[in-house]
Amino acid sequence: MKITIAIDGFSSTGKSTIAKMLAEKLEYVYIDTGAMYRAVTLFAIRIGAIDDSKQLDTPLLESQLDAINLRFERNGDTGKADMILNGENVEREIRTMAVSTKVSIVSELAAVREKLVAEQRRMGADKGVVMDGRDIGTVVFPDAELKIFMTASASARAHRRYKELLDRGDDVNYDEILKNVQERDYIDSHREHSPLKQAEDAVPFDNSHMGLEDQFERIYSLAQDRI
Ligand code: C5P
Repeated sequence: MKITIAIDGFSSTGKSTIAKMLAEKLEYVYIDTGAMYRAVTLFAIRIGAIDDSKQLDTPLLESQLDAINLRFERNGDTGKADMILNGENVEREIRTMAVSTKVSIVSELAAVREKLVAEQRRMGADKGVVMDGRDIGTVVFPDAELKIFMTASASARAHRRYKELLDRGDDVNYDEILKNVQERDYIDSHREHSPLKQAEDAVPFDNSHMGLEDQFERIYSLAQDRI
């Protein structure tokens, strides 16, 4: 039987790494919903609906939502799924600080969430999917057979994100990243629509002091129990 696996949690807890590994092992589809919110944010920046002052022009963005076409495309070099926004590969650009500092503000908008949740439900309609985000177990797939809620200390998360961006060759500042992680967590958990919170039936998973292999073994075994 194919099941639906929802992995939610705070920023940079390593959700996507585990979700990808799990999807590969189970031969499931992996969907990174954060990439979708990031792509909408990039679009909002490009049309001038949000700038560094972080003031969102809600009517402008809402009037353009139908012009946003998102899809994932497998990258032959990395083997990962890249985000394609209106035909353009934006995988690299959506991970920049310019996007990270605005994505939580764009993600507060009900119209943005409605559009993306509808697409996520379509993508996961046939089960056999591992989806990571903030509201997968609470809103997108409340009936998911396995829900994981990942947490880790803010400094462990900022260190991971810092290393990830450094490895990619970005010019980054640790304090700026820590601040961004904390700000996003605050906005994500306090927003009106679909705030980040643990679903009642989710398995809490703190990985501050846990290696990748260990995490994977435990979560894979939880999945096995439900298949
Ligand atoms: O997962 P990632 O850190 O890339 O997500 C970026 C941002 O997108 C989050 O901080 C959050 O504001 C938003 N998001 C969301 N709901 C999701 C996934 C991401 O609001 N399901």
